[in-house]
Amino acid sequence: MPEVLNLESTTLRKDLIDYSRNLERKNALASQFKFSDFIEKTKAGISLGQEEIFGFVNKVTGKEFPDIQTTAWLMAVRMRNDVKPLTIEETTNLTLAMAASGDILDLAEFEHVVDKHSSGGVGDKTTLVVGPIVATCGLTVAKMSGRGLGITGGTLDKMEAIPDRDGKVPGLNVRLTEDQFRKQAKDIGIVVTGQTGTMAPADGILYALRDITGTVDSIPLIAASIMSKKIASGATDLVLDVKVGKGAFMETEEEAFKLAETMVEIGIKAGINVVAEITNMDQPLGEAVGNALEVAEAIKTLKNGGPEDFRAHCIETASRMLMISGKAENMELATEIVMRTLDEGTALEKFRQMVIAQGGDGRVVDEPEKYLHVAKKYEVFYEGSEYLYFENVNAKKIGEAVRDLGGGRVKSKDEEIDRSVGMMIKAKVGKTLKPRDLLGCVYSDDPEKAQIAIQSLKNSLSFSREAVNIPKITRGTYPQVI
Ligand code: URA
Repeated sequence: MPEVLNLESTTLRKDLIDYSRNLERKNALASQFKFSDFIEKTKAGISLGQEEIFGFVNKVTGKEFPDIQTTAWLMAVRMRNDVKPLTIEETTNLTLAMAASGDILDLAEFEHVVDKHSSGGVGDKTTLVVGPIVATCGLTVAKMSGRGLGITGGTLDKMEAIPDRDGKVPGLNVRLTEDQFRKQAKDIGIVVTGQTGTMAPADGILYALRDITGTVDSIPLIAASIMSKKIASGATDLVLDVKVGKGAFMETEEEAFKLAETMVEIGIKAGINVVAEITNMDQPLGEAVGNALEVAEAIKTLKNGGPEDFRAHCIETASRMLMISGKAENMELATEIVMRTLDEGTALEKFRQMVIAQGGDGRVVDEPEKYLHVAKKYEVFYEGSEYLYFENVNAKKIGEAVRDLGGGRVKSKDEEIDRSVGMMIKAKVGKTLKPRDLLGCVYSDDPEKAQIAIQSLKNSLSFSREAVNIPKITRGTYPQVI
């Protein structure tokens, strides 16, 4: 049998779309697949061929294995983390097979479809700001986003915190049909919706199993999971934001750069214009953590305000998106263009257009405090008498506390959440602290949960008598020079 795809081909994307529609070929690969050979080779670190990887993914998609067999393979891959991880070629084949396990969106009618993807963090509402900015600059943002799980938030949950025209939450429609998706992208240049069930279904199956079997933490599996969805959703230009630190999947810079490199290499093979930035997630991004609060902070930032770290991150990421899609020659020029959209309020108006187009109440843009549903506020003050510096603001603990307030999910992406709860964190590493300063606020309508969260907020902070350096948000990019 000839190879499934030539990874060196300049028409790889088109070939992949053709393959994804060729059921006969998919079935043939599945029926010749032998699980016993595949698992033995994976355990022994023997190279896995393209056909068997595609055959495996097709079997998984058709639910032809009991879960324990699939899980055994995932664990075999996970256990090779420190010994002999899957090679870039194996990981690319896995990614492409997962992307082709369902529909691949063909967005060739748009010249550039620019996307960004964060590997997941606490307080990361960046899409709500950079999407409107780059759409204002003439690029198409036709984006499929996800829901939050565990301590990481999801863009869809934040969007649903915006009420519909009757004031109801979840408000914004994030279940658009493909026709609605294309039409909105054409009409206003920006649309953000949920991934359809027919997109990369193999990832849905594998991710659900990884989540309950301790096999999430594998760079090849994470890279394949993220990139399969990006390839299937049709982006031509992509900025990957790989988070590193206490509140991220990747706790060390070495791991984060490795993940960045793996995803970029896969993206390049798949014909995507791609660059990764590696950014700090030791402390939450901005002040707001929790869905409605994060929307309010995004609006504030689009109004040319917002917390300094979050604003700087948005400007940098948006500039990088303009650069890779050819709208600016260098970061300096890109930054000028981005700043103009904030100064002139055009990005804010683009955000409003998106809200209205997806069934939301556009007035939220003018008066977020009036139209967003936010729970009861409790202020938390520093009770000590010393003048100190913030040394740590633990993003993981804060993410867990907001999840426990009901703002995040514990087990599955189908769980309902409370979009009105959260925290505003006034603490920032390196900032000075004096008696009676505000450490932050907790938002909850449940007094017991609020008290637990107040304690968690205090426990997430540590202090120093010595000055502490303000950490840089961006630790680097891959490739290094873009
Ligand atoms: N996000 C994903 O989509 N997949 C992973 O495996 C990890 C984070």
